[in-house]
Amino acid sequence: MNIAILGFGTVGSGVYEIIEHAATAETKALHVTHILIRKGKEKKLSIMCDDIKTILDDPQLDVVVETMGGIEPARTYIIEALQAKKHVVTANKAVIAKYLKEFTNIASENGVHFYYEASTGGGIPCIQGLEKALRVDVIDKIYGIFNGTSNYILDHMHRYQSTFDEVLKDAQHLGYAEADPSADIDGFDICNKIRISASIAYNYPITDQFPVFGIRNITKEDVQYFSSKGLVVRLIAETRRKGNSYSCVVEPMLFNENQIEANIQNNYNLISLHGDTIGELKFYGQGAGKLATANAVIQDIIDIMQKKTHRQCTFDHTMNYDSSFCKTDYILRCNPSLLPLLKELSYDIVSSSYFHIKQIEVTKMHAIMNEILKQDATAFMASIYETKEEQSC
Ligand code: HSE
Repeated sequence: MNIAILGFGTVGSGVYEIIEHAATAETKALHVTHILIRKGKEKKLSIMCDDIKTILDDPQLDVVVETMGGIEPARTYIIEALQAKKHVVTANKAVIAKYLKEFTNIASENGVHFYYEASTGGGIPCIQGLEKALRVDVIDKIYGIFNGTSNYILDHMHRYQSTFDEVLKDAQHLGYAEADPSADIDGFDICNKIRISASIAYNYPITDQFPVFGIRNITKEDVQYFSSKGLVVRLIAETRRKGNSYSCVVEPMLFNENQIEANIQNNYNLISLHGDTIGELKFYGQGAGKLATANAVIQDIIDIMQKKTHRQCTFDHTMNYDSSFCKTDYILRCNPSLLPLLKELSYDIVSSSYFHIKQIEVTKMHAIMNEILKQDATAFMASIYETKEEQSC
């Protein structure tokens, strides 16, 4: 199987390394014949080039692996590759979240495959797990830790009492963080991953019109305060379905210290889904990092080589966004002078700057938080997982 890799960053070089050091009969059957690098960059290997046309015109080429990241030129190259009747495998969650339906249609029109397991949960085969679960069940909930960098930060702040900035630097050195780590800490990377998962689960292209709140404002003192209450914070994406309505949210969530989510360490992810007959399924593994993510890319290439087809989504179902069936409790930290903004809510004052807000609709809490942030840019909030579970969603 002849492969071209577009982009030679963390994931692209990981794919090349695994194929070069092939350890199995399957990986020995893979050959990297082209690597696309940016114009002006040094061509360190003879197979490197800077012209996409040379690659797409090669009749011997079977698969294009896109690991450039971002929207353009990734979108154009993916479309051109599919139209040139090359299979495409990508790890690029930003472009997939936006153009999943378009890529799927073009692949189908051209009789080739478009696979993207590495885009969600790094090395964890959670897309395949979801697709398999959908053969039997309607999936009414997907939630979990979808980002290695934010988990690494929160885990180290909790276990080693580190500060946010110290741990972010470590995560960057370890190759977990995005080029612009704000995507990791402000929740936008997770937003893309839950959009991809929910789009597959509901067979409907999910937009980014839902509340997202990240961990930029969390302090060492917040983590210590949560610990003193037996709680551990994780940055969570969650989608729920009720009939043809769905909710989506990305926010810090507090778990009891003995829950599984509270004990996920380093760059590991834990993605859970719920179906009527299967109940809860959990997928655990490295959600970020060079070789783990490259492994998922290679699994997709081997599926293509072995003619294993993935679920065919048409993304033509109709769904409505509605979070009114999702209520939960929140712990909010903000300047106490802002308490009037909470006047219509039910809440307890638990210390001079922490407030426990009871059973509020998720979208409403995020709207109030946006008002609070205008006057206290350092404010932080986290929902409480167990109180969400009590709702009959
Ligand atoms: N920056 C991402 C993360 C990489 O930390 O999870 C994998 O998508």
